Amino acid sequence: MALDVAIVGEINLDLILYGLPQQMPLERELLANDFRMTLGSSSAILAHNLAALGTRVGFATCVGTDAMGKLALEYLDDRAVDLSRVVRTRTGTSTGITLLLPHGKERHILTYPGTMFELRYSDLDLDYLKSARHFHLSSLYLHLGLLPDVPRLFREMKAAGLTTSLDTNDDPDDRWTGLDELFPYVDIFLPNQREACQIAGTDDVQDAIERLSHRVPTLVVKLGPQGALLRQGTHQIKADGKTVDVVDTVGAGDSFDSGFLHKFVHGSQLEECLQFANRTAAYSTTKAGGVEAFRDSERLQAFLA
Ligand SMILES: Nc1ncnc2c1ncn2[C@@H]1O[C@H](COP(=O)(O)OP(=O)(O)OP(=O)(O)O)[C@@H](O)[C@H]1O
Ligand SMILES: [Mg+2]
Repeated sequence: MALDVAIVGEINLDLILYGLPQQMPLERELLANDFRMTLGSSSAILAHNLAALGTRVGFATCVGTDAMGKLALEYLDDRAVDLSRVVRTRTGTSTGITLLLPHGKERHILTYPGTMFELRYSDLDLDYLKSARHFHLSSLYLHLGLLPDVPRLFREMKAAGLTTSLDTNDDPDDRWTGLDELFPYVDIFLPNQREACQIAGTDDVQDAIERLSHRVPTLVVKLGPQGALLRQGTHQIKADGKTVDVVDTVGAGDSFDSGFLHKFVHGSQLEECLQFANRTAAYSTTKAGGVEAFRDSERLQAFLA
C-alpha cells in the first residue's frame, strides 16, 4: 500500500468516567454514572480518524506486549492503518493508559505513559516513513526516547521531499524546549490556543500568532468551540467552530488535525482544509472519546455530507 501520511507517535487506551464530582475527597467511594474504554493518545487517534476519512496511513509506535497494547492496535487495524513498523517494548513496560474525568467543560487527565517514553530513532524505518507523501508527529514532549532526534527526523523527511506537520500538544514540564531547532523543518504547525501562547511567551493569542508566524510557514491555532485560525506570513483566515451536541471533547484537537491533513494531502486549498477540520473536530465531540464517532462510517459520511 502506498502511504499518504506516515505518523510517528504514541498509543494508549483512554478510560473515561463520566459524572464524577470535581472535588474528589480521599477515602470516599466516588461513583461515576457512565464509563467508556476506547482508543486514546493523540497520535493514535489522529491515525485512526485520518484513515477513517479515507487517507492511507502508516503508524510507527512502540507498544507493550500486554492485552491493552493488543486492544489499542485492533482499533487501528479495523481502519486498515498500516501497522507493519510497530515495535514491541524491550523492557517489559506496559502500554500507557489515560484516565479522563470530564466535569462539564473541564476535566482531570491522569496518564501513565508506559511505552510512550521508549520509542527511539533506531526503532524507525526511515525508508518506510519516506515512502509517504506527508509526515506527522504528535505529542512531542511525551516522546522522551525520541525527543533529541526529532529535528533530525523532520530534516530527513523534508530532504526526502515530504511535507511535514507537528502537533506538540502539551509539555507536561511547561518548558517548550527544542522548537528553534525543529521549526525550520515543519511546514504546518497545529497548536491549540494555550500551547501557542506558551510557546510564544505571551498571554494574548493574536500576539502569539504574530510571533509564531515568523517561525513556521503555516500556523493553525485551534480555539476550542470558537473554531480555528490559520496564518501564512501576513495572511490570516478564521473559521468558526460548528455547533453540535457535545458528549465530550476528548481528541477534538486530533480529529481537527485529521480533517486538516486529509484535505491537505489531497490537494485542497488551505481555507477548505480549515473548514473541514472544524467539521471533523466537531463530529468527534458527538460521541465518547476521540475515535468512537469515527468508527461509525455511515454516520461519519452523513455528518460530513
Ligand atoms: N465544544 C465544541 N463544539 C464544537 N467544536 C469544538 C468544541 N470544542 C472543540 N471543538 C473543535 O475542536 C477543535 C480542537 O479543539 P481544541 O482547541 O480544544 O484543541 P486541543 O486542545 O488541541 O484538543 P485536544 O485536547 O484533543 O488536544 C477546535 O478547533 C474546534 O474545531
Ligand atoms: Mg491538542
